[in-house]
Amino acid sequence: MAVADFKQIAVVGAGQMGRGIAQVCACYGIDVTLMDPNEEAIEVAKSNILKSVNKLHSKGILEESALKACESIVYVNRFEDISDPDLIIEAIVENESIKTEVFEKLDKQLPSKTIFASNTSSLPITRLAAATKRPELFVGMHFMNPVPLMKLVEVIPGIATKADVTDRICKLATGLGKQVSMSKDYPGFVVNRILMPMINEAFSALMEGVATPEDIDKGMKLGTNQPMGPLTLADFIGLDTCLAIMKVLHNGLGDPRYRPSPLLRQYVDAGWLGRKTGRGVYQYK
Ligand code: CAA
Repeated sequence: MAVADFKQIAVVGAGQMGRGIAQVCACYGIDVTLMDPNEEAIEVAKSNILKSVNKLHSKGILEESALKACESIVYVNRFEDISDPDLIIEAIVENESIKTEVFEKLDKQLPSKTIFASNTSSLPITRLAAATKRPELFVGMHFMNPVPLMKLVEVIPGIATKADVTDRICKLATGLGKQVSMSKDYPGFVVNRILMPMINEAFSALMEGVATPEDIDKGMKLGTNQPMGPLTLADFIGLDTCLAIMKVLHNGLGDPRYRPSPLLRQYVDAGWLGRKTGRGVYQYK
C-alpha cells in the first residue's frame, strides 16, 4: 500500500525516534526497512515495536492487520542493504557532522528520485541538504516522542526544497494520522524553540535550589496542565538531546538567554542521560 504515493520507506537509525517512525509507517501499510549499524539497537527496536503494537492492539487502537504489517518490517545493519526507497527518513544522533556523513553516503548510493527527510530536532535543514546533490528533494520531517502516540509532525522546507516535495511530505504525515505544523528553517523550528528553554530553565531553577525536582515537576504539571513536568520530560527525551538542542539554539540565535544550564551540562558529562541510561534527574529501574 502507499501513503501519498510513498510505497517504500527506509528509516535510518533505530533509536526511540527511528523505531517509532518505522512502526507508524508500517502500520499504515508502507513497506519499511529499518537500518542501524548497531545490532543491539536493532534487537531493542524489534522488541519495542512488538511491545508497542501489542499494547495499541490490546486497547483496540490498532487492527490485527497493522500488527501483521509491523511484522514485515525489514531490519538491516548496512547502508548497502537499503534498496531504492521512495523516501529516506534519517533519525540518527543529533550531531551535525555524523548526519552530514550519512547523507553524503546515502546521496551517492540511492537513486536520484529518492526524497531525503531528516527528523532532526533543531539542526538547519538547508545546511544538511547542502551535503547532498539533491537539496530540492530534501526536507525536515520532525516527529514527536513517543511517535506512535503523539499527533504532531513539524515539516520544515529548506531554502531549496521544491514545493511539491513539501506538499507530499505533509500529505504523508496526515496520511499517517498526524497533524502538520509548518515551520521555517530557524534553529529549533517551533516546538523545540519554545520547549527547550522551558526545560533549560527548570534545570536552572533546580541548580539554584528554588525547589526539588519533584516540586518543579509538580508545579508545572498541575499548575500548567502539562502531561509531564519539564524534568521528567527531559529524562524522557534524553538529556544529551536536550543539551544538543540548547547548543543549536545558543549558537544559531546568538542570544545568551539560550545558554545551556551548567547543571544540564554536568548531568550529561556524568552520563546521566535520562531513562535510557537508568539515571537522569531521576533514577529508573
Ligand atoms: N506505544 C504504545 N503505547 C505506549 C507508548 C508507545 N510508544 N508509550 C506509552 N504507551 C502507553 C503506556 O504503556 C500506557 O499504557 P496503559 O494505559 O496500558 O498503562 C499509556 O500509553 C499511557 O501512558 P502513561 O500512563 O505512561 O501516561 P500518559 O497518559 O501520560 O501518556 C504520554 C504518555 C503520551 C507519553 C504523555 O505522558 C505525554 O504526552 N507526555 C509528553 C510527551 C511529549 O511532550 N513529547 C514531546 C517531546 S518533544 C519531542 O519529541 C521533540 C524533540 O525533538 C525532543
